Amino acid sequence: MNIAVIGSGYVGLPTACGLASFGHNVICIDNNEQKLAVLQSGHMPLFEQGLQELYESNNSNIRFSGDMSDIQNAELIILAVGTPMSDDGSANLQYIYAAANEIKPYLQNGAIVATKSTVPVGTNDEIERIIDNPNVDVVSMPEFLREGYALYDFFHPDRIIIGTDSMDAFNKIYNLYAPHIAPEKIIHTNRRSAEIIKYASNAFLATKIHFINEIADLCEQAGANVDDVANGMGADSRIGRKFLNAGIGYGGSCFPKDTNALAYMAGKYGVQLGIVSTTIQGNYDRRFRIAERINEQIKSVGQNARVAVLGLAFKNGTDDVRYSPAIDVIKNIHHNPIYAYDPQAMKNASQVLGDNIVYEKSVHECIKNADIIVILTEWPDFKELESVTFGRPTVILDYRNLLDENIMQSKENVTYKRIGK
Ligand code: NAD
Ligand code: UGA
Repeated sequence: MNIAVIGSGYVGLPTACGLASFGHNVICIDNNEQKLAVLQSGHMPLFEQGLQELYESNNSNIRFSGDMSDIQNAELIILAVGTPMSDDGSANLQYIYAAANEIKPYLQNGAIVATKSTVPVGTNDEIERIIDNPNVDVVSMPEFLREGYALYDFFHPDRIIIGTDSMDAFNKIYNLYAPHIAPEKIIHTNRRSAEIIKYASNAFLATKIHFINEIADLCEQAGANVDDVANGMGADSRIGRKFLNAGIGYGGSCFPKDTNALAYMAGKYGVQLGIVSTTIQGNYDRRFRIAERINEQIKSVGQNARVAVLGLAFKNGTDDVRYSPAIDVIKNIHHNPIYAYDPQAMKNASQVLGDNIVYEKSVHECIKNADIIVILTEWPDFKELESVTFGRPTVILDYRNLLDENIMQSKENVTYKRIGK
């Protein structure tokens, strides 16, 4: 198939490289000139495990362009542009509608436009109105990949949702995936259900995280251990252990914006999503309470304390710092300087953090002579702390419950604290 992907970001690039690896011809369009220059020089402009390698082994099937007329032979056009949060919490749809307007002149009869961007219910109706061509089907095909696992999720999705009333469009997309993905994972719905499935899924996962974080607060007061509680709850297959890791709250370019957009869209339909609203507020507040705990710790060690922060990305496996709770926590630590290290996100973080941060080259350099070490992102790299000998009194605030508790508690000179214990 000739496929065009509009938007070469965290979703567009893994999708493009994955489809190219199935043998399709893919043209990727992006209007960010800087990004395009990097792509055209053969490099991926973002960090995603295995992406550069997948691109290199399929580069004969992929082209990058800034010229929309290059999509004119495409049978399938995938929209993967951003839908960021507006000030009022709604999804900002200016990029998706601009993309729909820009592709319109180049759509051939029989083409399918499939929206992978996360968009509120009814957006694909509007895209259809913009395209205004009865020979083109507009399909909602939401994306569920996780950053850091984007390629794994592309090749092993839990489900592929195809939201359309057109059997012809459904069959074409079904045939695209069915040779590679277990066909029972391909689910056919109408377009509006597909749009809501995406938001409801993200909001449910966000709620699960906020729920366990509230339970963690209770555990701290009640002499319990949230990890044991999560394991005990998660052993019930109806609940499941995933997304019950207590920490500093969820972040990233998706859960914060999508929970807000869902609450906003429900409001437009006169429906109150109380659970979602509580999750949004509780998760936001949590980062300030975490910062407060760190400030208290600094106060008790002394204002000359050397403070080392491990983790800037919103989660492990990515260089993405969009709505990273780690960034907000650091912004609210009243101390200067703060020494920081992240395996991938230091460049992005340096663009949003003030200049009281000293970026170190390794875990080892970052924690050298530290009085307080705070873990804010769940990078497996930070497990290195388990084998470090601490020659001076060190407080370790493991706010992602990453390290082995028994090992850390038996270390000399270490005061080890974690969430929900
Ligand atoms: P991104 O910002 O990484 O990439 C979007 C790209 O689109 C950018 O490179 C931008 O330059 C380009 N673009 C914008 N307007 C364009 C236009 N008119 N023509 C050509 N290019 C254009 O965004 P992302 O993280 O890939 O997210 C894209 C969408 O997918 C969002 O709606 C998001 O909610 C959704 N989503 C993201 C993830 C994720 O893990 N990041 C997962 C599932 C769904
Ligand atoms: C999330 C969803 O998992 C994807 O299915 C979805 O496609 C994507 O959003 C999206 O719509 O864009 P992602 O944002 O990449 O993916 O990251 P997650 O792995 O879901 O983590 C989100 C946040 O929750 C991170 O800050 C992470 O640290 C936090 N988290 C996750 C916890 O605090 N505890 C957990 O148990 C799990």
